[in-house]
Amino acid sequence: MVINISSAAGDIPTPMMQIYSATKAFVKVFSACLNSECAGTGIEVQCIVPFIVATNMTISALNLGKPSLMYPGPDEYVTHALRTVGVRSMTHGYWLHSLQAFIIGCFPAWFVEKHGFSLLSLINSLKRTSL
Ligand SMILES: NC(=O)c1ccc[n+]([C@@H]2O[C@H](COP(=O)([O-])OP(=O)(O)OC[C@H]3O[C@@H](n4cnc5c(N)ncnc54)[C@H](OP(=O)(O)O)[C@@H]3O)[C@@H](O)[C@H]2O)c1
Repeated sequence: MVINISSAAGDIPTPMMQIYSATKAFVKVFSACLNSECAGTGIEVQCIVPFIVATNMTISALNLGKPSLMYPGPDEYVTHALRTVGVRSMTHGYWLHSLQAFIIGCFPAWFVEKHGFSLLSLINSLKRTSL
């Protein structure tokens, strides 16, 4: 089993993080291609596409504070994500991240390209006031 880690930043244009977003988009397509190539070999390639997880990378950069329902800590996130191994080849790995992706996916591609990051920030600010 190969598990590659992409990011929702690979789906949603992220200002000032062009290289990060582009490489994460690469990881998604690369993983999907490899998984197709490996069909029938017993090797599976899964791609995990998280939104925000409260790790060393994000806690200080985004001023997240403690892990929360929307921003699970690494242990919580991995516990959820591992349940998808062998079940989903591409997954957000955590139910609230799937919900965020669903909401963003309700908008047309041109809108997400133009306003996706603002929309994500809005969803996250709603979380700060309601969860
Ligand atoms: N956190 C998020 O919100 C989020 C969202 C989407 C995707 N992701 C992706 O998830 C993955 C893990 O990120 P994270 O949030 O868990 O970050 P993290 O807590 O900062 O952990 C990064 C890990 O990568 C290791 N590392 C860094 N540079 C390395 C190098 N040159 N060679 C070998 N190991 C190296 C670090 O090792 P040391 O501890 O030894 O420094 C650390 O274990 C990344 O690919 C990130 O893009 C994270």
